[in-house]
Amino acid sequence: MPQNQPVSHLTEKQARAELARLADVLGKANIDYHGEDLPTVDDAAFDGWKRRNQEIEALFPALKRVDSPSDQVGARPKDGFGKIRHSQRMLSLGNAFSADDVQEFVARVKKFLSIDPDQALRMTAEPKIDGLSLAVRYEEGRLVHAVTRGDGEVGEDVTANAKTVADIPQSLIDAPDILEVRGEVYMTHADFAALNETQAQLRQKPFSNPRNAAAGSLRQLDAEITRARPLRFYAYAWGELSEPLGVTQSEAVMRLQDLGFSTNPLFINCETLTELIAHYAQIERERSDLGYDIDGMVYKVDDLALQSRLGFRATTPRWATAHKFPAELAWTELLDIDIQVGRTGALSPVARLNPITVGGVVVSNATLHNEDYIAGRDSKGGKIRSGKDIRIGDWVQVYRAGDVIPKIADVDLSRRFAESVVFDFAAKLKQEGIEGSRDPGDAVWRYSGSEPLPDLAIETLRHFVSRQAFDIEGLGAKQIEQFYHRGWICTPVEIFTLETRFGPDQLQQLSKLEGWGIKSAKNLFDGINEKRRIALHRLIFALGIRHVGEGAAKLFANRFITWQAFEDAMCAAIPDSEPWAALVDIDGIGAVMAKSVAAPFQDSERLLAIRNLVAQLDVIPAEQIDTSSSPVAGKTVVFTGTLEKMTRAESKARAESLGAKVSGSVSAKTDILVAGLGAGSKAKKAVELGIFTLDEDGWISLIEEL
Ligand code: IVH
Repeated sequence: MPQNQPVSHLTEKQARAELARLADVLGKANIDYHGEDLPTVDDAAFDGWKRRNQEIEALFPALKRVDSPSDQVGARPKDGFGKIRHSQRMLSLGNAFSADDVQEFVARVKKFLSIDPDQALRMTAEPKIDGLSLAVRYEEGRLVHAVTRGDGEVGEDVTANAKTVADIPQSLIDAPDILEVRGEVYMTHADFAALNETQAQLRQKPFSNPRNAAAGSLRQLDAEITRARPLRFYAYAWGELSEPLGVTQSEAVMRLQDLGFSTNPLFINCETLTELIAHYAQIERERSDLGYDIDGMVYKVDDLALQSRLGFRATTPRWATAHKFPAELAWTELLDIDIQVGRTGALSPVARLNPITVGGVVVSNATLHNEDYIAGRDSKGGKIRSGKDIRIGDWVQVYRAGDVIPKIADVDLSRRFAESVVFDFAAKLKQEGIEGSRDPGDAVWRYSGSEPLPDLAIETLRHFVSRQAFDIEGLGAKQIEQFYHRGWICTPVEIFTLETRFGPDQLQQLSKLEGWGIKSAKNLFDGINEKRRIALHRLIFALGIRHVGEGAAKLFANRFITWQAFEDAMCAAIPDSEPWAALVDIDGIGAVMAKSVAAPFQDSERLLAIRNLVAQLDVIPAEQIDTSSSPVAGKTVVFTGTLEKMTRAESKARAESLGAKVSGSVSAKTDILVAGLGAGSKAKKAVELGIFTLDEDGWISLIEEL
């Protein structure tokens, strides 16, 4: 029976069957949980199944199901919090994406109420705060509990945490006996930035956006942690009441304000569609200066008697809608189209863009999905972008919504070069030396070569732990592979979180692996912890950035001294900017290297991964060298022959850090020739030109005087 088998012993067939069984039992447990009955499965068993599912998926990524339980988030309240059933369901809002949608919403409301379409109807308009909703219940003026939305029926009891939020009063004067206030918990941009800085100092993971930070902070099991987090709360609605708060939405919101709640200052009344849309447009313009995230506007019928006549559909009220802001857009130049080989063999085209800021994030890559998408066709042969194809050199419109990967929305044909050519997927594969094929009916090209696919994730990890990089005792290429296949370490940061993630189960599994015992696990953790303190140049090299070898890593370290200075410079180095000019101005750094080293810092996902990693480390700054006393400052040095005590890259970086210029050929301008073993024609030429020549030891004693 596959369900009793250790994950590492499963055959592919058994793994497939076990994933199907787990999807089934986890799905059922979720339904039981949310139905009338209380849970049929305890939390530990539920979590155990979920973990087993993840472990199998890590071992057999290709078997991951489209309905994988790993992708189902948020349904079950987090362990550790009590559960509370809402006395009135917490619903969500219908969406409008255009002025036409809003017009339809208003027309529907009027029709339902039998109001003349031309007659004015008083509405409210307010920002849709991008946070998480919370219901706070007061009885006789005292806060009794605070509950997250959960699935709308049952949420998590976060009372102790809510009590630490300054905007949420703990007691009210002259309030209805029963009052449930609903609103949004959120975090301002400034508080978010400060929190992430603290996280970095504490070696904790930074949050990816203010919404996640607010959610993570509210759902802390330790309320004292929540207290230290700067959460805010805007009240905009209510649940159970023992007496009404007013006769209109506006009156009720004002009453909440009088009771001591914060309400949003951008709340207004509107009589017509034109007013709603004008307010929407104005807030959209002000959006980036508000200091907190909003993702649209919410319109509500103002008269509460009309609201109750309108009532609800299954999950949304008829009397309100959310008018979403469009995904953020920007135009930029498409520099190149690369083909990425996925772990499953899918060959995916990726747009390399001239970096541009979209919604506050620098974007330099975007997905192009597949060959048809580039050609302007959908999977059924219909037109997308009115049939416009995408070519290298085109001006393209990039968009991103929320956290999703940037996409290309449109092409500006008026800026297309006359000599531009249609992108040829097959030719590009050939040029890259990638063997691929595309089956009829399949939108995707797939790798068809006979060589096994290089597993990029493993390669990245192997490089990361290599001798010149992190060089972790007990974690070499072989162990990395073992750990990777068990899903224990899939990315560099996971090396440093391994100890905290490792439970007794994994320790036992590890002790059974060849060459491991309980003691060696402890040695491994010690080895890892020892390397948390790492020299800046080793870290830069370990990142495995294309073109950045050891020598270049040292150059960068000597130039920027601290990790923060390096990161800031890379984030800012957008072609043609001042920081870009400063970067290519470094001796030995050309445009190709500059582009390559800055690229990961200008891609929001990769940057986040790097920051998460660095948050686990203590980076030792490079030593600041005073070149004024350097005997080789300003001198042109040539290395030739084989050096035995350092690599060519190292010696070059060291010479440069001392203010010397390293050249590849001997000429009258050469000041010093360093001749290693087997030096040939260059040494001969130096003698002819009378150039000062040293052997390797001579060179070392010269520079070590410093
Ligand atoms: S009114 C019956 N007003 O948006 C629904 N919701 O997409 C009452 N939200 O779950 C909600 N700002 O978490 C309302 N000014 C606002 C809002 C708002 C944000 C959230 C809320 C809701 C979600 C629906």
